[in-house]
Amino acid sequence: MRIPVIAGNWKMFKRAADALDLVKKLTPMVVGVDDVQVIVAPSFTVLPSVHGALSGTRISLSGQDCFWGEEGAFTGEVSPGMLIDAGCSHVIIGHSERRQHFGETDETVNKKIKAALQAGLIPIACIGETLQERESGDTLAVLERQLSFGLAGIPEEDAGCLIIAYEPVWAIGTGRTATDEQAQEVHAFVRGLLARIYHPGFADRLRILYGGSVKPDNIKGLMSCTDIDGALVGGASLSAESFASIVKFGK
Ligand code: PGA
Repeated sequence: MRIPVIAGNWKMFKRAADALDLVKKLTPMVVGVDDVQVIVAPSFTVLPSVHGALSGTRISLSGQDCFWGEEGAFTGEVSPGMLIDAGCSHVIIGHSERRQHFGETDETVNKKIKAALQAGLIPIACIGETLQERESGDTLAVLERQLSFGLAGIPEEDAGCLIIAYEPVWAIGTGRTATDEQAQEVHAFVRGLLARIYHPGFADRLRILYGGSVKPDNIKGLMSCTDIDGALVGGASLSAESFASIVKFGK
């Protein structure tokens, strides 16, 4: 039994007042939802205030990235421990925008997942192919590489809490969602990979989220797929109405 997860990735949007406004609108809208785990990932600067505004709700807080060291001379970086101080229970790692624009590699993703786990954060580890990789038939090979390097050296007892997010890069922010069939095919493949890396029983318990232009009108179809356990939502998480309606996909 895998509890669905709907996570909102606010990216570099929402300064303090707007972030608090969004949370204030969102919380009453999802108050009765107890069969879906809801997570929001605001920018670093508003984490503590959003954490305060979430107190007494069932919504969890996530960072959008972290460094792999606990402290040191690493100007501009934020450690997993600092995210915990700010009220986070989760952290997004390896988002394609970080891979694309900020030099994130499978190796740094691996270091960050390990550091996050060690600090007690739950990583939401992102994988996904570019349009070029899909068109040249490399999708599954790319995902296999990202997953096997990303999880290298992480034992089953540590990996049990992990959340994986499959986000085809060509579907992010483009309004072009993968079809339910395309997404299900990849999710089943990813679960199979996890079964090979760990074992089938383990893979059956892990949540695999889909991300890329998830909206209120496509969430139901995606969630009806056997191996899709939730969504990582960008654009549609910036409005309380659309995010709440995605959270309430089953209602
Ligand atoms: P999108 O972003 O929903 O705006 O496509 C998803 C993501 O980047 O996590």
